[in-house]
Amino acid sequence: MLRNDGPAIETHGVTRRFESRKGFLFRDVTRTDALQGVDLTVERGSIFGLLGPNGAGKTTLTKILATLLLPTGGVAKVLGHDVTQDAAWLRPRMGLVLGGERGLYNRVSGRENLRYFADLYGIPTAEREERIRSVLERVDLLAAADRRVEEYSRGMKQKLHLARGILHRPEILFLDEPTIGLDPKSARETRKLIRSLVADGVTIFLTTHYMFEAEELCPQLAVLSKGRIVARDSVDRLRQLVGGDRTLEAEAYGFDDVEVAALRRLPGVSKVAEEEFGPATRLTIRLRTDEIGIEEVQRALPGHDELSVRERRTSLEDVYLDLVEEEAR
Ligand SMILES: Nc1ncnc2c1ncn2[C@@H]1O[C@H](COP(=O)(O)OP(=O)(O)OP(=O)(O)O)[C@@H](O)[C@H]1O
Ligand SMILES: [Mg+2]
Repeated sequence: MLRNDGPAIETHGVTRRFESRKGFLFRDVTRTDALQGVDLTVERGSIFGLLGPNGAGKTTLTKILATLLLPTGGVAKVLGHDVTQDAAWLRPRMGLVLGGERGLYNRVSGRENLRYFADLYGIPTAEREERIRSVLERVDLLAAADRRVEEYSRGMKQKLHLARGILHRPEILFLDEPTIGLDPKSARETRKLIRSLVADGVTIFLTTHYMFEAEELCPQLAVLSKGRIVARDSVDRLRQLVGGDRTLEAEAYGFDDVEVAALRRLPGVSKVAEEEFGPATRLTIRLRTDEIGIEEVQRALPGHDELSVRERRTSLEDVYLDLVEEEAR
């Protein structure tokens, strides 16, 4: 089938500049280059995760891919079609969930909201009610389906947004922070739903601030920082990129610079980061090789009776912070 050919998303040099005017006769122009040349390829049929600090451009990129916002430069293709030229072809094949309070009708029920969107998407009337019932069931909102949306909690609204996003059975679904504001149980159910959509063949592009979520859901990730992709790979490969999957942590009541420098000189150490928390200091030691372990670190830090050293696996959060910090330098 033709639709399975080629990547789900392909962008080349995508830029987006925002200009806002204020002041006398709106003469003061503030320009923000939210995206500064984004090159990205996302394969079909899986979950792709986009990470990045606040203001990195994640929502801007998501909106451009979902044809909600035009790029100011570059080319973006979704399902092989240009987002600028082929928006009408793309829209029925895409779902977008931005979340938040907007985009729902508060005065009517969840079910009635979905009826409105079903008509908008051109879902045949004969299929409509069953389709709505099944998506409401899928997001676990059936019991509240006939209550007015203004009575919904934030999490219930988020679920309704998701239901709207999948109502027309899109081939590709864009989810901007899908589990924000959800309690742990609802967040877990939402992740389960996302996985089940992929099992049905849907491609998912999601943004998140939750590292464990990205690690759990996304075989492929990209990190966006200040409008640029600074890394793009699997979680394991990203770990290698920042220097291996072993991390040691040493905690005590303060270390001096000489001690930190000594640690940095130990074989296989790729990075030592210092972090205060309360009265204690934690040193995070990233290891490139297996040459040293807990004992060598203990020996390098004599004279701390209260010293505790442990080993853990390098987390995606470590990797992420390294990448974003590097950009900030
Ligand atoms: N409509 C707009 N007008 C002007 N500037 C905008 C507009 N939308 C976004 N921006 C700016 O573009 C940059 C990227 O914003 P964007 O919302 O894409 O970031 P984000 O990565 O989604 O951040 P967050 O994690 O906080 O959601 C920011 O500097 C933001 O202020
Ligand atoms: Mg955002």
